[in-house]
Amino acid sequence: MTLRKISWEDYEALPLDEKASYLMDGHRPLHVLIAQQFGRESLDSLGALATRIRRISKNREGSAFLKNLLRDQRAMLFFTQPSSRTFLSHLAACQILGMQTGEVRDPAISSEMKGESRDDSVRTFSSYFDLIIMRSKERGLAERTAWLLSNSERPIPVINAGSGPDQHPTQALLDIYTLQRSFENRGGIEGKRILFVGDLLRGRTVRSLTVLLANYPGVEIVFAAPEAYQISEEILSILRARDVRVEVTDDFYGSIPEADAIYMTRVQDEWDVEGSEVDEVDVSAYGLRIEDRDRMKEDAIIMHPLPRRSELPAEFDDDPRAMYWRQMRNGMWIRTALIAQIFRCEEAIQGYAV
Ligand code: CP
Repeated sequence: MTLRKISWEDYEALPLDEKASYLMDGHRPLHVLIAQQFGRESLDSLGALATRIRRISKNREGSAFLKNLLRDQRAMLFFTQPSSRTFLSHLAACQILGMQTGEVRDPAISSEMKGESRDDSVRTFSSYFDLIIMRSKERGLAERTAWLLSNSERPIPVINAGSGPDQHPTQALLDIYTLQRSFENRGGIEGKRILFVGDLLRGRTVRSLTVLLANYPGVEIVFAAPEAYQISEEILSILRARDVRVEVTDDFYGSIPEADAIYMTRVQDEWDVEGSEVDEVDVSAYGLRIEDRDRMKEDAIIMHPLPRRSELPAEFDDDPRAMYWRQMRNGMWIRTALIAQIFRCEEAIQGYAV
């Protein structure tokens, strides 16, 4: 099944699990739009490919081999919402594979200011590029773009680098890769207890990652947040339908000693509605304190999608359990692997003698 075979209205109305079948060719993504499109097999093969690319890139010959793979392809980075990591790691991923890149970060300098529709804008990009990577405040824009281009004369792939408050699938993939690597000598992600903390209602990284965690038997997920920022019923019902054990609590500090991974998040106040009065939510009990170092498991890990605020003090940075800087760098490798899969470079990479 492909997006060419379905109307936008019919596609948009599908449940997320059914949308997934329009976005994959086996374990190879046609587009990267929603976390639901990645099952266990595709997560394993993506992680293995990222590790292989990372190893190949360690010397000059390997880097030159990778740089030759997509040197005839061009990628457009359309980032109209602020980003440091997702933008730069996608840019670096394109560079590792030799792609040329262009970018739009400010729609105020595009012809949208002259009244051009968003649909016409993205069709314009596709005339010059072979891949679109997009972050936008607009919910569903990446999906709409992928559908639109799939039904145009230039059906190029689209990567969702964050769409509205909804999904951030590539962040979830790099988070899974970080968990895979952290637990590879401890029985894998299976059976681990993952503690999510902070603004869980509006954090799109948490929404996408919890969906992926449902692929790992025995995983337990604890959501620790003040009531106003607690995880949505929608996510809870997705997890329960897949028999994932979940716990919802306002007691972050009491949850620390049992956690294998602590996933911190900041308050997502960019989603506060401009001009409307916002009730102050007290998040003071949802930040790590120095004394929590002694309350964590010795082999637990600390993750954070970053950027951070006071919920994760810099004093944790040299703790060997702090995984967030490595997590950020993993983003570059997993995004390189994704692009390599989209452009069918997997076989060439597997065939390269490291
Ligand atoms: N984690 C993440 O999406 O970071 P940026 O907003 O800096 O891209």
